[in-house]
Amino acid sequence: MPADLLARIKVNARVPRHVAVIMDGNGRWARRRGLPRHAGHWEGMKAVREAIEGACAAGVEILTLFAFSTENWKRPRSEIDALMGLLQAYAEKEQERLVRAGVEVRVLGEVDRLDPLSREAVRRIEERTRGGSVLLLNLMVSYGGREELVRAARKLAAKAREGCLDPESIDASTLERALFTAGLPDPDLLVRTSGEFRVSNFMLWQLAYTELYISPALWPDFTREDFYAAILDYQRRERRFGRVSAG
Ligand code: FPP
Repeated sequence: MPADLLARIKVNARVPRHVAVIMDGNGRWARRRGLPRHAGHWEGMKAVREAIEGACAAGVEILTLFAFSTENWKRPRSEIDALMGLLQAYAEKEQERLVRAGVEVRVLGEVDRLDPLSREAVRRIEERTRGGSVLLLNLMVSYGGREELVRAARKLAAKAREGCLDPESIDASTLERALFTAGLPDPDLLVRTSGEFRVSNFMLWQLAYTELYISPALWPDFTREDFYAAILDYQRRERRFGRVSAG
């Protein structure tokens, strides 16, 4: 069945270059089973693997996963610790598989807010996967879209104050270069799981013309077939970027 879907994706040819994912529903998945929330996050790792392998097979070039938001710092300490432990375990356990698959990992966000062990895990996984040329995997950690824009505004204001930047010369590309995602194309497709129709402070600038796909599956239940279904749905869309239709 996944092979059929993959074959259809390939026939359609227009594969999204950049797919971003809001991985939602881990807590609900756990609650429905009478398990603690962190069990849902751990189970979510399997779906991360599915999405990465699906992206590689389909020919997606960039996969961006929302792993920890700036708002997530407000969760109970025990859950934050579990998520950071998961990040460390992920970096350790998955690195060989990622290198073999040709995946380069980058961690984008306020990495300096992480504890020393998590920062070290981030450094190691980035270093060991550097140069992977099949897929770029962006893990968004301690990331918020508004915070990213505020940070970019501060950077540009500081440059202007130093006399290195003429405020009149600032345009969209100047701002883009000051974002965590500098140099990357915007996502073509955003997938959100657990049936929620919200962007939740994710990539506010970059999602301007992105196609949205909402899956009812809770993240730990999200399979490679679900990932392929999202791409097939995208391939049926007509993207106009504010222009009128060609036909
Ligand atoms: C949202 O579910 C999910 C998160 C806050 C964490 C996402 C992290 C993972 C899936 C683990 C993958 C980690 C790495 C390192 C790649 P929620 O807790 O908000 O669920 P709920 O809305 O049902 O409560």
